[in-house]
Amino acid sequence: MAQLIGHQIDESTQVTKTLQQLVDEVTKINHQITGVKPPSAEFQENGKKQIEKIGQFRGRPLHYPYVGTGAGNGVYVELEDGSVKLDLINGIGIHLMGHSHPRVMAATVRGALSDIVNQGNLQPNREYGQFLEKLATWAGRKSRLKYAWLSTCGTMANENALKMARQKLSPARMVISFKNAFAGRSTMMAELTDNPAYKVGLPEYNEILRVPFYDKKDPQSGEKTLRAFKEHVAKYENNISVFSFEPMLGEGGYQAAPREFFLPVLDFCKEKKIAVWADEVQTFSRTGELFAFETLDIGSYIDLCTIAKTAQVGATLYTEEFNPKPGLIAGTFSGSTPALTAGMEILQILQEGYLGPEGRIQQIHKKFIGMLNHLNETTCRGLLTDAGGMGLMIAVTPYQGKKEQVDALLKRMFQNGLIAFNCGKDPIRVRFLVPAIIQDADIEVAKTIIEKSILEEA
Ligand SMILES: Cc1ncc(COP(=O)(O)O)c(C=O)c1O
Repeated sequence: MAQLIGHQIDESTQVTKTLQQLVDEVTKINHQITGVKPPSAEFQENGKKQIEKIGQFRGRPLHYPYVGTGAGNGVYVELEDGSVKLDLINGIGIHLMGHSHPRVMAATVRGALSDIVNQGNLQPNREYGQFLEKLATWAGRKSRLKYAWLSTCGTMANENALKMARQKLSPARMVISFKNAFAGRSTMMAELTDNPAYKVGLPEYNEILRVPFYDKKDPQSGEKTLRAFKEHVAKYENNISVFSFEPMLGEGGYQAAPREFFLPVLDFCKEKKIAVWADEVQTFSRTGELFAFETLDIGSYIDLCTIAKTAQVGATLYTEEFNPKPGLIAGTFSGSTPALTAGMEILQILQEGYLGPEGRIQQIHKKFIGMLNHLNETTCRGLLTDAGGMGLMIAVTPYQGKKEQVDALLKRMFQNGLIAFNCGKDPIRVRFLVPAIIQDADIEVAKTIIEKSILEEA
């Protein structure tokens, strides 16, 4: 029987065997990485040079003295200075399956055997359709989302969502968004982002209206948000296109909110025909379900949803009503073939015991939060407060949450072998984007480093 050449490559036992041998060999070498290590005298100078080179050629030094060698094992990653770090930030949330996951690596290599590097919206290969089907079908189980459009980052996925909302509700132009929101780095997403430091010198477009996010210390929080929302709508009646929100505030401080907080606002959006757009660029695949709108059970309200990061590509999901007119969204790239094959493999692995109330993600959440709270109650008494978040997005406030203290602590943790990052403004918090493959023993290693670092900087 005739067989397409592309399918012959897929099914070639020689290709599959060679690919597996390649991954096995690399995995065997990577398995030498077993835990945190300081920089070695032999490679320290090499690491320093590489870091300086990056600063020299991009005109701005690296935030951390971090240049990876390309080798890793689970939560551990090897750097060019010979050190091994416990990575709990993962490229700000990209490497959900940690470093050098054999199945992710195999899927990536598979993708690399394709005839092209980058797929495009004009001439896609099979993986493009497979990815769209996976996303749209999954999202459609708990929402009215029906379609997906690929892009190469969260910012671009967000731009597409905003354009779809504005086109549908044209000529309405205003956007309602939470205080301390983050939406990306393009001109418009910098506008949607509530952080003046990210738009110094840029013109203001005055198209964003802010409402406060949930404040668990304030019993009136929900009412205040709804009131602010209603005031904006009264003032800009018929000129509000979309409510854009992160189901859990990400860069803004890793604050979660209960379903009951969102419902009145979402009902009001429906009443006023304001589009509802969930920016799940950071929450996607992290909160215990694939979409945080599933975890929060608010899927029926969602008109638009954006994802990126762990998917390895960006995507905008949309309902029938928001399907844009031809010409509104396009673009050359729709993701590299290895990114698409790896992204699909990550989603596949997630389905194997990670999701659901009893899944591994929720187990990790409880263990990690328990570890932080235990430190706060024992050796680091009162120095690690308000541990919280959702699923694999976890943050804690060290000391009094002041910038200098947190910066110094993060640097200290890096030196001691653990990579985390900050979020929020007042207080500034330490956040962990924990990979799904973390083991309980790794959480114990994290505990030791956090404890040591906290006490050293106290
Ligand atoms: C909620 C949210 N939206 C959008 C973005 C932007 O995504 P990207 O950096 O891939 O453009 C981010 C990135 O951190 C994010 O957290």
